[in-house]
Amino acid sequence: MIQKIALVGFGTVGQGLCEILAAKEKELLEKYNYQYLIVAVSDPRFGTAYNSAGLDMEQVFNEVRSDQKFTTDGCPWDSLEMIRNSNADVVCELAFTDLNTGEPAIAHCREAFATGKHIVTSNKGPAALAYAEMKSLADKHNVDFRIEGTVMSGTPVLNLTDGPLAGCSISAVKGILNGTTNFMLSEMEQGSDYTAALAKAQALGYAEADPAGDVEGYDARAKVTILANVVMGEKLSITAVDCTGITALTPEDIMEAKAENTRWKLIGSVTKSSEGLSAYVRPERVPLTHPLAGIMGATNALTFKTDLLGDVTIVGAGAGKTETGFSILSDLLAIHRAETILPENRL
Ligand code: HSE
Repeated sequence: MIQKIALVGFGTVGQGLCEILAAKEKELLEKYNYQYLIVAVSDPRFGTAYNSAGLDMEQVFNEVRSDQKFTTDGCPWDSLEMIRNSNADVVCELAFTDLNTGEPAIAHCREAFATGKHIVTSNKGPAALAYAEMKSLADKHNVDFRIEGTVMSGTPVLNLTDGPLAGCSISAVKGILNGTTNFMLSEMEQGSDYTAALAKAQALGYAEADPAGDVEGYDARAKVTILANVVMGEKLSITAVDCTGITALTPEDIMEAKAENTRWKLIGSVTKSSEGLSAYVRPERVPLTHPLAGIMGATNALTFKTDLLGDVTIVGAGAGKTETGFSILSDLLAIHRAETILPENRL
């Protein structure tokens, strides 16, 4: 079966995904018998392009590069109409993240579920603000709500706990969850100033559209909320997570930490104990001997405290075009696997 994909939002992640799909088309077919068509792309800047038999993505990229509205296969539908009316099997929700309302992403997800389409998204809004509703709507309509890319880009975190770590109870998660701020702190330790470090993180495609989301800790707070609710089965509200970003850290603080064999890291943490749930995001000074001290640049790291394996730590990319594009691919392949490995084909 050829998977038909609609993209809502054609920025860094959407373009990264399409580049990967094009570069790996043959490999994906040979290794996984995976075939796809991108039938729709909808973006506020370029409008909507739709072709039920598959868009010419080279043409789509050409039009995007010349910053013009889609003309070839141009279509008057807005994003919601496109989701409702297109023949896509999966909607990749890659519109901008709004951590106050979750919109327009939540409306996109609701429309996709109501019309029987899977959602794959790296958008933290729906997962951090409305996970229970999204999951229950997806279940009701017998489709998937897949969100691997919301935490640590394509580094497997949510799918890891749902797959290989299934059966373990997780009582705490702690780590570095924001690539932009970790990159900035690394640059500042090398002598870069705050503004230059942020500009570089933006140029590399790590930062949120509004970088306050990174430096004020809101992005990490959304990830902490998602981890608590998805991995630990809690009902944590984003506003219940104590949150301090890195904006108050001065170059002097960073150099002082270095002189004392420590390093500032923006840490996200959730711990479940007999006293309840404690969740926070804040800068912490960690000794250079601590495993998190060595995590530099846009790399992230997360430790799960499990009952059966003790601590399990995963280190990997936390942000970036290809890295987040890959998170979407890994979820698309998971849907493909689930749909093609029918019970009668299992060993
Ligand atoms: N702005 C985010 C970060 C992107 O820097 O981690 C990935 O969620």
